[in-house]
Amino acid sequence: MIVVTGATGNVGQPLVRALVTAGEQVTAVSRGISARDMPPGVRHHQADLAEPAGLAPALAGADALFLLTSGDFVSAGGSVSGVLDVARAGGIRRVVLLSSQGVATGSHPATLEDAVTQSDLEWTLLRPGGFDSNTLQWADMVRTQRVVRAPFGDVALPTIDPADIAEVAAVTLLDGGHVGGAYELTGPAPISPRQQTMAIAEVLGEPVRYVEQSRAEARAQMLRFMPEPVVEATLDILGMPKATEQRVSPDVERILGRPPRTFTEWAARNIAAFK
Ligand SMILES: NC(=O)c1ccc[n+]([C@@H]2O[C@H](COP(=O)([O-])OP(=O)(O)OC[C@H]3O[C@@H](n4cnc5c(N)ncnc54)[C@H](OP(=O)(O)O)[C@@H]3O)[C@@H](O)[C@H]2O)c1
Repeated sequence: MIVVTGATGNVGQPLVRALVTAGEQVTAVSRGISARDMPPGVRHHQADLAEPAGLAPALAGADALFLLTSGDFVSAGGSVSGVLDVARAGGIRRVVLLSSQGVATGSHPATLEDAVTQSDLEWTLLRPGGFDSNTLQWADMVRTQRVVRAPFGDVALPTIDPADIAEVAAVTLLDGGHVGGAYELTGPAPISPRQQTMAIAEVLGEPVRYVEQSRAEARAQMLRFMPEPVVEATLDILGMPKATEQRVSPDVERILGRPPRTFTEWAARNIAAFK
């Protein structure tokens, strides 16, 4: 049995589906009372990882854990070591951590990864770059004004479809051959916010205007839902990425045996949010 934290999110939902399709028993964890879009047969357990003891009842019979630590968890002073202690005591042997590319490139601290790699559990690290789904922040303004206001319009990064992260996570949870692996996960090609806006417009079949936002404007918006150090590090990557952050990684294709999905494919699957 596999325990998936962050199970109602952009990565967690497709991960739960992929594991069920592979015939695995899954316990889905989130703080919400009801699990949205959970496939039949998936047990949902309500817990806040910032209070790790609450995870214990989800672990009966589990051997692997997909660990996602949200901004809320970090802001609440959540302890990854505390979560790992509860996991180990509950019989978990293997953990797959959703980390970030910024750890590999030196833009983000390695605190979460260190807690995992210094534990005595078998581990795999997934280090994705920016998610295609971050553009859902634009959905309201696209729906109501057919406009995107975002910073760094011409800085291109190889953003990734969270469904690809989920597929890689499923493989690494199911196949012991990835223990000790650290994978950088990107999309197939760098794409800028202006180009993402054009892709959304093309899928919509209607023009959408791109308006450049200043770093200060973007910062003020992001501070509403992200901790301050994460906001600064994210803006640095979006505005002044290192060469290593603009590079397409071969890891998705190596693990899945096919190239990563394009931003346009993500937009086509999610266009209802922008209509
Ligand atoms: N977005 C990016 O560009 C990017 C890039 C690299 C890495 N990442 C990493 O990706 C992760 C975000 O993934 P995502 O897209 O799946 O996020 P998401 O769509 O916002 O989903 C977050 C999930 O975690 C659950 N959750 C949040 N706080 C929790 C807590 N304290 N205890 C238990 N469950 C909690 C949420 O459900 P409830 O709210 O109901 O609890 C939800 O299921 C973060 O770890 C981030 O560092 C993101």
